[in-house]
Amino acid sequence: MPSVFIKTYGCQMNERDSEAVAAQLVAKGYSLANSEAVADVVLLNTCSVRDFAEQKAINKMRNVIGTARSEKREQIVGFMGCMAQSRGKELVEKLPDVDLVLGTQKFHRAAEYLDELLAGKRAKIVDTDAEAKSEAAIREHLLNGSAKTSVSAFVSIMQGCNQHCTFCIVPSTRGEERSRTIDDIVAECRELVSRGVKEITLLGQIVTSFGKRDYPALDGKSAFVQLLDAVHEIKGLERIRFTSPHPKGYGDDLVEAYARLPRLCESAHIPLQSGSDRILKLMHRGYTREKFLGIIQKLRAAKPNIGIYTDIIVGFPGETEEDFEQTLSLCREVQFDNAYIFKYSERRDTPAATMPDQLPQAVREERNERLLNLVNEIAAQKYDAFIGQQVQILVEGPSKKNAARYTGRTRCNRIVLFDGSARHQGQLMDVKIERTGSFTLYGDPAVVNL
Ligand code: SAH
Ligand code: F3S
Repeated sequence: MPSVFIKTYGCQMNERDSEAVAAQLVAKGYSLANSEAVADVVLLNTCSVRDFAEQKAINKMRNVIGTARSEKREQIVGFMGCMAQSRGKELVEKLPDVDLVLGTQKFHRAAEYLDELLAGKRAKIVDTDAEAKSEAAIREHLLNGSAKTSVSAFVSIMQGCNQHCTFCIVPSTRGEERSRTIDDIVAECRELVSRGVKEITLLGQIVTSFGKRDYPALDGKSAFVQLLDAVHEIKGLERIRFTSPHPKGYGDDLVEAYARLPRLCESAHIPLQSGSDRILKLMHRGYTREKFLGIIQKLRAAKPNIGIYTDIIVGFPGETEEDFEQTLSLCREVQFDNAYIFKYSERRDTPAATMPDQLPQAVREERNERLLNLVNEIAAQKYDAFIGQQVQILVEGPSKKNAARYTGRTRCNRIVLFDGSARHQGQLMDVKIERTGSFTLYGDPAVVNL
């Protein structure tokens, strides 16, 4: 049977989609290749959020095709995911050697299409059509190829987004919001737990909108909180996380869930985008600086040690120095544990792309650097505060960089390295933090209280 290599760009949802495609192909008898150079099939799962991510995938595809041609190797190559969806046929016009373009509602068809291509029944397949119920089709898990070694898994709970932030291409690449049922999600989580998974991250572009149409509020609990409650009931599941909520839908019921549900980890990724009310309005975000600060305050009141992470865009059209300073001051006030900073990138067919006052790249660069300096300074202080503390970690496995070290994650989602061994794999254990490195904590195994 053929071998496949899948390279993933972008977010955790893309990671999850790639895993589901890989699992689907493995179930059909494919093997997983270690690199594109030895694979019969190469799939690039793409991201469209910024132009840079698209260019990276296109350049990679050019390289893959060029190398295979110069070595006279037969190889089936394809794009899938967000850029496949938004560019479709245009991709095969640009790169005529591409055999497959698979949209975001078609991941479950990967095996069927590859069979046809490999058998020579069809020369090229481009499928970016909408497909009803595709949100429930991403079910298979690979669990790193072995159920025994995977302790942590992602579960996709919904697809799409209806928020239409003016900068964002996701509503067009991922389509309208479509949620799975609570029963279906719980069944998938149960199955994962029965295979040894101890931590589940629930995924969606805007999880606070989960199931809004299908599950009316119950005892003041939104559909998403009802889902958290249901997943929390699963015996043997030690940790629950989710990403990403939207500040607009971040109700007190969700804050209370952190206080109420002991297995919901104290970690929150809440995209801010800007600290200026004027820019938030132009972005169509649907909340104010004050509302955002209120959420953070309530979360910290409920869970003082909660790790808070965010996304910020700098250089949005019309962003003035004063607007940008509002973002800086909000970061100083909130003291994020970390923030992902993005330079604004014009996306086709989004309202922001045609707004006046598109800022020069140099301004975007300069603000990116200033904000990064501030965020890193705060993050480093937060890391240093861990020294001497005892924290619970879930051990994921050997470190990729140094096999003598094992890696685990704290409940607040920080990576901890320690001198471990195979017996620690999948264990929840306490370690004492000795020192910090760049975005890593080092734990002392001597105080492991197993
Ligand atoms: N709802 C998703 C957002 C997906 S996009 C989530 O919350 O994870 C991930 C991040 O990319 C966004 O939060 C935003 O900060 C950034 N982003 C989106 N569109 C962008 C654009 N046009 N330019 C720069 N950054 C962008
Ligand atoms: Fe994009 Fe805004 Fe939805 S950032 S994914 S349109 S919440």
